[in-house]
This record gives sequence, structure tokens and C-alpha cells, in this order.
Amino acid sequence: MLAPLADQTAVVTGGGSGIGAATAARFARDGATVVVTDVDAAAGERVAAEIGGSFLALDVASPAAWTAAARHVETTFGGLDLLHLNAGIRLGEPDVVALSDADYERIISINQHGVFYGLRAMVPLLEGRPGAQVIVTASRASLGPLPNDFAYAMAKHAAVGLVRSVAPALLERGIRINATCPATVDTGFLGGVGREQLEAAGVAVMGSEEVADGILAILGGETTGEFFVQLPGGEPTPFAFTAVPGR
Ligand SMILES: NC(=O)c1ccc[n+]([C@@H]2O[C@H](COP(=O)([O-])OP(=O)(O)OC[C@H]3O[C@@H](n4cnc5c(N)ncnc54)[C@H](O)[C@@H]3O)[C@@H](O)[C@H]2O)c1
Repeated sequence: MLAPLADQTAVVTGGGSGIGAATAARFARDGATVVVTDVDAAAGERVAAEIGGSFLALDVASPAAWTAAARHVETTFGGLDLLHLNAGIRLGEPDVVALSDADYERIISINQHGVFYGLRAMVPLLEGRPGAQVIVTASRASLGPLPNDFAYAMAKHAAVGLVRSVAPALLERGIRINATCPATVDTGFLGGVGREQLEAAGVAVMGSEEVADGILAILGGETTGEFFVQLPGGEPTPFAFTAVPGR
């Protein structure tokens, strides 16, 4: 039987660890040719070697790096079928007065600008490929407040405006785009706070592989412009946005 993603080329940002590494592995297992990208070359190269993919250094906050990445993917693979815009960081600063310019710019440039730059660079490569799709790793902090990391929530909320706004036009160009909003995931993102510690505090934690499974389920659907909430042990569930008064 043909692997489900055979003949497909996939690019994953932040593929050197956590959710990105798990998705890259799932894409590869399902037959895709995977380009693992990350700003951390050692981590990205390790994952690429493990899954039989290739590595490309890519800082998602750099428009020039995205232009170079698009050129590389176009030249090497002739196009792109799956784009996982996943790279992201957290800050953990709760005090709006204490956040430095440098940290503010860093989180907005990676978590917000990085998604737009990636989309802008790669849409031309996705266009014309049957079933082309983009999946964005958003967050439940895209959908609601996060008092202990307001700048993270601010940047992640931007994904809602972008994904929901561009989805109709991208669909006309044959491209679907959805986002995943996972619960707390046991990755380096948690800054060394262990799973046991979180679970003891009543926080439900899921593994990266479970998130990757959910992403494959989302990609296997027919939606566009949806934000899927992923909770431990549950199916990805589209978030029910309410209608905007007067529109
Ligand atoms: N872990 C969680 O609890 C959780 C929950 C919801 C959403 N998320 C989101 O999931 C995504 C992946 O996070 P994770 O949990 O796998 O964390 P992680 O720290 O394990 O992985 C993030 C990866 O992104 C890379 N990265 C950081 N800055 C980059 C840049 N400028 N350009 C390219 N790559 C860069 C890192 O090197 C790392 O490999 C993030 O967008 C995060 O906001 C995480």
C-alpha cells in the first residue's frame, strides 16, 4: 500500500525539537520527503538524520532566510505540499512594565512575524500542488488570555487574524490552512519544568507525538481557517468563534 504522504514534500519550522521534531518524524514515517528547519543547527541536523530527511538552517524571524529557503526548496524539490509553521518561543514575563524592548521584539518577530514571512515565501511553492496545506502551531493562548506571559498571548493571537483572514483566498489558490492549539506539551518549551511537577499541580500534559497525531488528523480533514484545540487523550476540536456583531 502506498504511504499516505508518498511523493509529498514537507517543510517543518522549529523541527529540531518538541512538536516540530515529532511532526517531522510522522511526516517522514508516512512517506513524505521532509525538510527539517531550525535556528539550532545541531538539533535540526540530528532530527533530520534520525528521520532520513534533510536539514536547512532557517531563522523564521528573517525574511531573507525565508527567501533563501523557498529558493532552496523550489530548486531541490520543485515545490511544496505541506508547510508546518511551528517554531515559537515563550518568555514567561507577567509584568507589562518589566518587558524589555529586546524581549518584546524577539517574541513578536519569531512567533508573529515568522508565521507571516513563512506563508508569504512558501505560498508560491504550494500553489498548484494537489492537496497543498499549511498547519500553524498556535496555542490556546491564541484564543484566550495568558496572564503569566501576555506577550506570548499577544503574538499567538496574531495567528488568528492571519489564518482566518487568508484562508478563503488561499483556498481559491488550492491551499488549505489550519492551526493547532495544543494543551501543555512536554517539550523544552516548558523550560525544564518536569511533566510530573506539572501533573502534580493539576496541569494536564500531553506528549509531542500525540500533538503530531492530531496534526495528521487535521491534515486528513477538509477544513480551512480553523483553530483546533488539542487536549490530552482527545480528538482535535475546532474552536467555535462567535460571530462579530454587525458583520
Ligand atoms: N510546549 C507547549 O506547552 C506548547 C503549547 C502550545 C503551543 N506550543 C507551541 O508549539 C511550538 C513548538 O514548541 P515546542 O513546545 O515544540 O518547543 P521546543 O522549544 O521544544 O521547540 C521549539 C523549536 O523552535 C526552534 N526555534 C526557536 N526560535 C527559532 C527561530 N527564530 N527560527 C527557527 N526555529 C526557532 C527551537 O530551536 C526549537 O527547536 C511553539 O510555537 C509553541 O509556542 C507549545
